[in-house]
Amino acid sequence: MSNPKQFDCGIASIGLKFPSLGLSVDELARVRGIDPDKFTIGLGCETIALCARGETVVDLGVDAARRALERWDGDLSDIGMIAVGTETAQDMSRPLSAFIAEQLGLDGAVRSYEVKHACYGGTLALRQGLEWKQSGAAGDKAALVIAADVALYGEQDGGEPTQGAGAVAFIIDKPLLASVDVRSFAWSKPAFDFWRPVGESYPRVEGKFSLDCYNDATQFCFEQLAETRGGIDAVIAEYEAFCFHVPFPKMVRKGVNRLGEAYAWSKEESSDFFDTYVDPTMDWNRMVGNCYTASLWIAVTNQLAAHKEGSRIAAFSYGSGYGAELLSLTVEAGAKHPAWLADVESDFAARKMISGEDYLELRSEGKPKLVTAPEPAVANL
Ligand code: COA
Repeated sequence: MSNPKQFDCGIASIGLKFPSLGLSVDELARVRGIDPDKFTIGLGCETIALCARGETVVDLGVDAARRALERWDGDLSDIGMIAVGTETAQDMSRPLSAFIAEQLGLDGAVRSYEVKHACYGGTLALRQGLEWKQSGAAGDKAALVIAADVALYGEQDGGEPTQGAGAVAFIIDKPLLASVDVRSFAWSKPAFDFWRPVGESYPRVEGKFSLDCYNDATQFCFEQLAETRGGIDAVIAEYEAFCFHVPFPKMVRKGVNRLGEAYAWSKEESSDFFDTYVDPTMDWNRMVGNCYTASLWIAVTNQLAAHKEGSRIAAFSYGSGYGAELLSLTVEAGAKHPAWLADVESDFAARKMISGEDYLELRSEGKPKLVTAPEPAVANL
């Protein structure tokens, strides 16, 4: 279960970043002429985080990375890999990691790349950072792993109240804040549940089908974990919290309901499990909406700050297409002083809550602009 000594690596530092605007879903419902209960009760949403004009996914990733780097005892010269999980790619070829590394001043003997698998991309980047360290390929270098997204849907799309934006950055080095079990439990199945064809700005979603895929993946990942522990009761006894990818909170509740069906829990048992182990993990998610690759890791960082050393945290990652993975983390001593709480407090305090009318004006400017190459660089091609 725990990691062998030669695999002594994990999360050494954490930084988060949320954009400068917020919109309550009640306000969105008002200007869309929809019953707000649909968004708040039906979907479990509260607030959407939005980028202001000119604010981009690159800015979010850079700021999260700077925060993680500032509170780590190494520096840029100790980073040997930057991996960015995102579904807000700025270019078909140039990875988001290059846009971010450029701003950080990170170059040289560094492996730099972007990881794509819908909302699962951040988890894959994290696992690759860990496995790179665990394999010995990293030497004494550390990995900078970032999950960053701006999640926007078309205007009046059913997904509009679930929008959000944010970034989480991790330094993968010594397990000062958390260790991550080498063993995890993956499940994948090719599907078109949520996808974005090349050249299109907003996703296409088979909403109900994507719920089915998410529920299936939840059940099949948990069944694998339970098999190694001798049953689901042992799983529940082992962990202090169960974090999920959060497209919107009601979807997580449905995933838990599926677990309840699979294990023949009563309605009360299902509710107790959700209320005790799952609902508290989504406190920050409710404040920012769906941040795609960052969503699960927002919940996990919330829980790393909430539990004492030695506590076990389960993390269920899901990305449409689809791929899923259930990971296990252990809270380490350094999390006793969770410096990343300051990121959340300062970003939430500083952000401007906009009116529904302001939101409509923001959207009227059209699709978000991509971060593009400077003109001379294009001319030199
Ligand atoms: N008061 C309370 N609840 C209400 C309501 C009201 N006035 N009106 C509707 N609801 C409830 C519905 O009963 C439904 O709940 P249920 O699913 O428990 O039955 C929920 O609100 C959503 O209503 P629905 O009619 O299904 O909404 P929709 O067709 O507009 O779909 C989404 C909304 C968000 C579900 C859909 O757009 C979607 O699936 N989006 C993306 C999903 C996603 O992110 N997939 C990626 C997976 S990672």
